[in-house]
Amino acid sequence: MKGLIFINPYLVPSESVYQAERLKQEFNKKGVDVEIISDASMRIAVQADSAKTDLPKPDFIVYLDKDKYLSKVFEKGGARLFNSHNAVRICDDKAETYIALAGRGIKFPKTVFGALCYRDDLEIKEEWADKIISHLNLPVIVKESYGSMGKGVYKAENKEELLSIMRAVKTKPHLFQEYIPTKKGVDVRVIVIGGVAVASMQRINENDFRSNVGQGGRCEKVELSPRFRQVAERCASILGLDYCGVDLLYGDDEEPIVCEVNSNAFIGGIESATGVNVAELYAKYVINTIKAEKQE
Ligand SMILES: Nc1ncnc2c1ncn2[C@@H]1O[C@H](COP(=O)(O)OP(=O)(O)O)[C@@H](O)[C@H]1O
Ligand SMILES: [Mg+2]
Repeated sequence: MKGLIFINPYLVPSESVYQAERLKQEFNKKGVDVEIISDASMRIAVQADSAKTDLPKPDFIVYLDKDKYLSKVFEKGGARLFNSHNAVRICDDKAETYIALAGRGIKFPKTVFGALCYRDDLEIKEEWADKIISHLNLPVIVKESYGSMGKGVYKAENKEELLSIMRAVKTKPHLFQEYIPTKKGVDVRVIVIGGVAVASMQRINENDFRSNVGQGGRCEKVELSPRFRQVAERCASILGLDYCGVDLLYGDDEEPIVCEVNSNAFIGGIESATGVNVAELYAKYVINTIKAEKQE
């Protein structure tokens, strides 16, 4: 069995490279040869009737990039991607994620999608801020649809702050969201592999409403309640994810509220907080899935 691990060529965070290396290590321990590829987009050309690449034909690709074009091309060529093109694409866009989860019995913060502005010189209207506040109350959370590590997530305490954030994000896809105040700066990250929650940690930030490690959050192991487990596993199944990290907020009475779903959740932090060998579990799942699919 031969696998490829795709990573983004511009990756700066060493976490992502570490992620690929940890997985490679665990695949190798199981006798599966894998190669980490960062330049896949330069090694495939699409033409009218086929796509030509000099990459070896693998049994599977662990897709740690989020580039939706590349994943589509490789899937079209018959490759088995973990996670699939569709699953990664939906998770990469927070608005698409909420739309996919809506109506499926999953609770998430009430959300209003921002109208996309195509020109920088056009003005935001004050009445739009009023409308958003009337839907969601203050404070309002604003999120860039494509963002991670807490970088594109803002909190507006009043209308003026909301307007100024709206001006700043108007040409990027974004959304507005009800603020969940129950446990400030705390969320629960659950890793789900093959439909089963295998590790979970709580992230706590005393200095910011965003619990991300990149914003100063610290991680500690947490016992999952049956409700948290069920919601996390259900999100993975609805979104068709082989592997993911589901972020959950606390509602009243410890009710799980889905904050977001990460198709490429980092392995390092959760492994050190919980002692669970997440990379091994994922490698085992990939190998078993490929074996099962080959027998079909
Ligand atoms: N609606 C919300 N209410 C309260 N806190 C939130 C809300 N949305 C996000 N947060 C906080 O901000 C953090 C980052 O938001 P998230 O949607 O996960 O974006 P990112 O992809 O940048 O991690 C979350 O982990 C959580 O701590
Ligand atoms: Mg998050």
